[in-house]
Amino acid sequence: MTHPGSTATTPQTPEPDDRAALDGARPEARWWRDAVVYQVYVRSFADANGDGVGDLAGVRDRLPYLRDLGIDALWFNPWYPSPLADWGYDIADYRSIDPAFGTLEEAEQLIAEARAVGIRTIVDVVPNHVSDQHPWFRAALDSPPGSPERQRFWFRSGTGPDGELPPNGWQSIFGGPAWTRTNDAGVPGEWYLHLFAPEQPDLNWTHPDVWAEHEDILRFWFDRGAAGVRIDSAALLVKDPDLAEEAPKHEAGEHPFTDRDALHDIYRRWRSIADGYPEPRVLVGEVWLPEPERLARYLRPDELHTAFNFDFLSCPWEPGPMRASIESALAAHAPVDAPTTWVLSNHDVTRPVTRYGRTDTSFSFESKRNGTPTDLERGTRAARAAALLAMALPGSMYIYQGEELGLPEVEDIPAERRQDPMWLRSGGVDPGRDGCRIPLPWGGDRPPYEFSPEGAERPWLDQPDDWGRLTVAAQSGATTSMLNLYRTGLRFRRAAPWSGDGAFRWIPSSDSVLAFARGERFACIVNFGPGPVALPVGAHVLIASNELEGGELPQDTTVWLRQAQDQAPSVDGLPGREHSIG
Ligand code: NOJ
Repeated sequence: MTHPGSTATTPQTPEPDDRAALDGARPEARWWRDAVVYQVYVRSFADANGDGVGDLAGVRDRLPYLRDLGIDALWFNPWYPSPLADWGYDIADYRSIDPAFGTLEEAEQLIAEARAVGIRTIVDVVPNHVSDQHPWFRAALDSPPGSPERQRFWFRSGTGPDGELPPNGWQSIFGGPAWTRTNDAGVPGEWYLHLFAPEQPDLNWTHPDVWAEHEDILRFWFDRGAAGVRIDSAALLVKDPDLAEEAPKHEAGEHPFTDRDALHDIYRRWRSIADGYPEPRVLVGEVWLPEPERLARYLRPDELHTAFNFDFLSCPWEPGPMRASIESALAAHAPVDAPTTWVLSNHDVTRPVTRYGRTDTSFSFESKRNGTPTDLERGTRAARAAALLAMALPGSMYIYQGEELGLPEVEDIPAERRQDPMWLRSGGVDPGRDGCRIPLPWGGDRPPYEFSPEGAERPWLDQPDDWGRLTVAAQSGATTSMLNLYRTGLRFRRAAPWSGDGAFRWIPSSDSVLAFARGERFACIVNFGPGPVALPVGAHVLIASNELEGGELPQDTTVWLRQAQDQAPSVDGLPGREHSIG
């Protein structure tokens, strides 16, 4: 069914007057509330010196690309010296740069150069654990049980007749016990806690040194121009001092090492530091919690500014769950006046075009479904629709490098080339995260696709042979490319008066459609169902994630519309729910 009044014609090629109509300066203050943040996994972004590993010089060279993409900020995964047991999340020195990436001076230059082109920088801090090569942990191992050096960590005697069993049954998130026994020249001693790999000992956040050290680290990077920090494993820092065992179910706040109430004191303190800068710095939490209400507690006005929305990231590409995820996130964030974030991927999860191409399109660490049948064409189509959906929702958005190129998960990495501790420590049961960390393809038709210069060493992870069509160069000139969709969508979003974290209103629609309005005249419609959906009479298409068919919205397609001034929004005249938030 086509409405004659619909002007749905050419998706992704907005007319100049559309842009003019949407143009408007966005206020600088509180930039983080609707920012588009691009995540840079430096090791795989661009390798300027030819050692097969991405570096800061590579990022500096590509700043024009990032500027043209239309983002507001960069979040860098940890760039500090690290023995790489967890690829940078095991930090040996929080105040310098890994020599493989460059120098501190280069990081400062990069922060300043990015800012000069309007892009802020967020650095990653890892407060839950340090590297086992960190000076504090080396000192702790060199000191006897009960020494002050050991009190900065969780050293405990073992259980069993000779202390040969761990202090309790906590399990590491990477598999196996969360405790490792020290061994001093062949003599077994105390055990220490590590919620991740044994090379990542957990800090003791009841110790004043740990507080003071991290406050100093925050200031160190804020003083160098960082606009904010992303806080790794932010809900894990505080542990039950009695080391109570995990139960099948815990009351809110009662889990022995997740989401404990004392965490909020830490973040209140951090917020006061961040607020002490003339341009207040921003705290972004990596908080994996199942209940959005518990997540929102971290976003109270005197705590973190935003947190990643993992519920949305993990949500299957289905209208009911997507609607529920959006509603619950907005409802939980509203009372604390925090913007929601919209995240489709990161360096820990399956790439969206692969995930959405499977029968089960949800994400979970427990069941990654590596190697199950995948329809990449369908997955790419859904990923395009999801991208425009995420860009249209109120709040901020995260883009993980390569998402804008539609890179698939690389699933056939040979065992001897895999690097991730999740794979290594699970004995290969968990496919790990290498498949979403493959170096970016920039140009050319074979590896390394200009990731590295001519004659460089082999990249640290191999790129597939068929990525020539996915390079930045190949996609730049193609109007229907994923890259062009991201560039155009972000450009609209930046200029649009409806964008930002303001009001949002569902438009009545059938159950297989999500439709919502932002502002007076903007509407976003997503069709998940097999039947085409007619567009509202008189609506003007700003952009669509895929070609419309006969002026109608086909399956797995998102469209942005400008409604006629006198038009009450409705989609296909279908009954549905109406409900406004914000
Ligand atoms: C979350 C990070 O995103 C992940 O990559 C890392 O392995 C763990 N935290 C431990 O730091």
